[in-house]
Amino acid sequence: MTNSHSEAALASPSVARNRDPILEVLRQVLPRAGKVLEIASGTGEHAVYFAAALPHLTWQSTDQDEYALSSIAAHRATSGLPNLLAPLRLDAATPDWPVSRADAVVAINMIHISPWRATQGLMVGAGRILPPSGVLYLYGAYRENGAHTAPSNEVFDQDLRGRNPEWGIRDLEEVVELAGNYGLKLVERIRMPANNLSVVFRKQGT
Ligand SMILES: C[S@@+](CC[C@H](N)C(=O)[O-])C[C@H]1O[C@@H](n2cnc3c(N)ncnc32)[C@H](O)[C@@H]1O
Repeated sequence: MTNSHSEAALASPSVARNRDPILEVLRQVLPRAGKVLEIASGTGEHAVYFAAALPHLTWQSTDQDEYALSSIAAHRATSGLPNLLAPLRLDAATPDWPVSRADAVVAINMIHISPWRATQGLMVGAGRILPPSGVLYLYGAYRENGAHTAPSNEVFDQDLRGRNPEWGIRDLEEVVELAGNYGLKLVERIRMPANNLSVVFRKQGT
């Protein structure tokens, strides 16, 4: 590992806590082969961990942010994983994604930490690039039935909105309705540690 690699490589404390529970779900829902497009890869630690654990898949990490892209590149260089592709800049809110086809799309802790238009773009993009039966996997905190699912999520939501009024924990029902507009049907909702959810959509059609 060179100095430039280690300087750029960022670490997120939440990744160490959530990567194993998420991996357990990914093992169940991702295809046996093909390309996974990760949106909002952040530090890139998830990408390295999942690509190492799922060598039958090719992992394409992306983010909209320069620092994130540097961090992903640094973690990737250190890992030397052959199935982890060089990161690409992708802003989910825009229509010009640099990837035109993927067998699955993964977005972890993104939709509450970005404006709603990023979630709209995510659904448009996933609906466009996934094949029939292709999976969109989301992980994060959600409101359900018009309410927060835990006091800690309410505090988190207030914190998010204080940091950026366009951010905030989304209503799962609204996300599901939006996804449906792009042929993405909710197939699983799995409770995860710390009041998070794994939410799995499948592209409809044959
Ligand atoms: C809280 S971090 C989560 C990173 C990583 N997935 C994780 O769980 O550690 C949110 C990430 O979303 C990215 N992001 C925010 N808006 C985005 C957008 N419109 N398109 C792509 N990425 C976006 C940010 O750059 C940041 O890396």
